[in-house]
Formats: sequence, structure tokens, C-alpha cells
Amino acid sequence: MSALAHDPRGEAARALALLPACGFAPEAVEALRALCAAALAPAQDRRLAGWLDAAAALPAPRGAVEAAGAVRAGEAWGEEGAGAGEGARAEGLLRALCPWRKGPLWLGGTHIDTEWRSDWKWARVRPHVEGALRGARALDVGGGNGYYGWRMWGAGASAVVVVDPGRLPHAQFCAAQRALALALARRGAPPPPVGHLPLTLEALTGAGRGTFDMVFSMGVLYHRRDPAAHVAALRAHGRAGALVVLETLVWAREGDAELPLAGGRYANMGNVWSLPTPARALRWLAEGGLGGGRLVDLTPTTVEEQRRTAWMSSFSLAEALDPADAARTVEGHPAPVRALLLAEVP
Ligand SMILES: C[S@@+](CC[C@H](N)C(=O)[O-])C[C@H]1O[C@@H](n2cnc3c(N)ncnc32)[C@H](O)[C@@H]1O
Repeated sequence: MSALAHDPRGEAARALALLPACGFAPEAVEALRALCAAALAPAQDRRLAGWLDAAAALPAPRGAVEAAGAVRAGEAWGEEGAGAGEGARAEGLLRALCPWRKGPLWLGGTHIDTEWRSDWKWARVRPHVEGALRGARALDVGGGNGYYGWRMWGAGASAVVVVDPGRLPHAQFCAAQRALALALARRGAPPPPVGHLPLTLEALTGAGRGTFDMVFSMGVLYHRRDPAAHVAALRAHGRAGALVVLETLVWAREGDAELPLAGGRYANMGNVWSLPTPARALRWLAEGGLGGGRLVDLTPTTVEEQRRTAWMSSFSLAEALDPADAARTVEGHPAPVRALLLAEVP
């Protein structure tokens, strides 16, 4: 492969190659290889081939790469002297991967203005994790398109494995990772040591155990019907002393309780099963065998942090709030508040 080639269809294999250094036995890696192939089989989603073709057609960006202050791959697309047409072509390819939810990303000259200001969440998380991230091998469970994985790399992680079963987020990862890799290759540098497995945490855990230094679960717990099992699986992938970072929607009040949710719906989302108070979430961490559980941040989500953009044009938070009372969701529940909790694997 030439220095300026980076095939998006090789991304799962590149992620699997990170696993031995993260504690996975060779048999586990082979089992996961088969699961990735099944997850990415064309019959799973007829759109996937088109998404990966779009990712593979992206030109190489020119300019600096960064992931510490923002995720940025160069400032322009294509070779020196390439005209505006090359930028428009690249932007069209990236638009084929809409809706973009996690970012923002600056690829080539294109600003992908995502639904979420994920950089704001990262600004809340980073002060609590940056010491531990230096040189760390990190697992990001439910990491979406990999935005936080690149930020972890930017903060000094030596390897980041993202697991997320979403196929569009996987294709978005492939596109952005290609842009980063091609921009780095122009400078003779290797691709970011960030990999994306199109799998659930349960599939990963079923195949084997990691020995990660850090395990992140952000925005996933409330989608799980069995939060205790989720915490146990997070713990299973951390080495002794590993830092576990749990970020979740909560019911922001005193006491050890859960908000009763009818039919798994909250703020226009389906598949929301548990909204614990911070005390209940801390109890789940302790019952899952994690030590030193602590709440380090509690922040209401605003319509500035989660909003409709040109890259995610359907309903967002504003449409999920009661038009007559923004302190309530359309279902009558308290409006979203997110908690950041930390704990250690003993
Ligand atoms: C609300 S998004 C959160 C994305 C990102 N971590 C963040 O904090 O912005 C939830 C993500 O969890 C993923 N997910 C859902 N169930 C999962 C599971 N069992 N294992 C891993 N990821 C899962 C979804 O595909 C989705 O991308």
C-alpha cells in the first residue's frame, strides 16, 4: 500500500491488531475477527458498502493534525494547488455519511458541525482523566464514531479501542481515521493508535477479557436493561487499579432511587431503561465490585450542547423538551442532566 493509501475496509483488522497489547488472547482475537466480519457483512445493512466507498474516496488532507485541543486533520483537501472543487467533492463524500452526531471534526478544510458539542463533554471529563491517560491503553465502550477515542489519543493514550455496534458510526470512524491517517502519512507519521470494533461490549466480553488501564462508558448505561451487568463487564476489562469512567444521564436529586420510565422512553429517545440518581449509580458501581466510586461532575444538557445542525438535520434536544416548560421533557420527566462518575478496579 502506498504511503497515501488507507483502506477504510481494513479498519476492523487494524483495531483487532491493537488487542494483544491490551490483554486479549490470540483465540479471543480470532473469535472477534469472525464477529466483525459478520457485523460488517453487506446483508446486515445495504447502506454500509456505499458509506465505506465514500470514506475510501476521500482525498488526503494537507496540513497539521491535532487531537489535543480539537480533532483536526489538515486545513485543505488534496494536493497543493487543488481547487475548490476538491474541497466540495470531499464535503459531498462526508455528507453521504450524515447524520453526524459526535464531534465537531475538522477534516481537510471541512468543519463537520455535529449534533453534539462532544468537545464540551470532553472538557468536563478531561481534567479528571488526563493524568491517567498518559501512556494508557483505553477501552471506550459505546464510543460512537470514535470522537473521544481521538481525544484520548490527543491526551497521550498509547492505544484506544472503541467498541460500538452502530454501522454508521463505524463508517464515520473509517472516514475520519482515513483523513487523519493520510494527513499524518504526508509527514511520515503512523496513523492514530485508535481502533473501532463494530461490536457490542457483550460480544467483546463473550470472546475474551482485556487488561485495559482505563475503561470508559459514556452515554451507554441508560440504554442497558441490566445496569449491574454493564458495570460488571466494564470491570472485567480493566486491569487491577484501572480507572473506570462512567458518564450517564441521571435523575438529579438526593437519595438512592430510579426515575420510573414508561416504555423505555425519555426525551424522545426509545431504549432508555434506567435513570438512576447519582447515589443509585454509585451503588451500582460498588455492587459491581468497583472501589472508590465518586461523583465528579453533574451538568444539565442545554440546547446549545445538543442541537440540530446542517450535519444532523432531524429532531434534537429542543424538540424533546416540553414547549411550555423547558425544565421537563415531552414525556413530563425532568430535563436531561448528566453525571460523571469515577471508580477503580480493585
Ligand atoms: C448516546 S450514544 C453515546 C456516544 C458517546 N459515548 C458519547 O458519550 O457521546 C450511545 C452509544 O452506545 C452504543 N451502544 C448501545 N448499546 C451498546 C452496547 N451494548 N455495547 C456497546 N455500545 C453500545 C450505541 O451504538 C451508541 O453509539
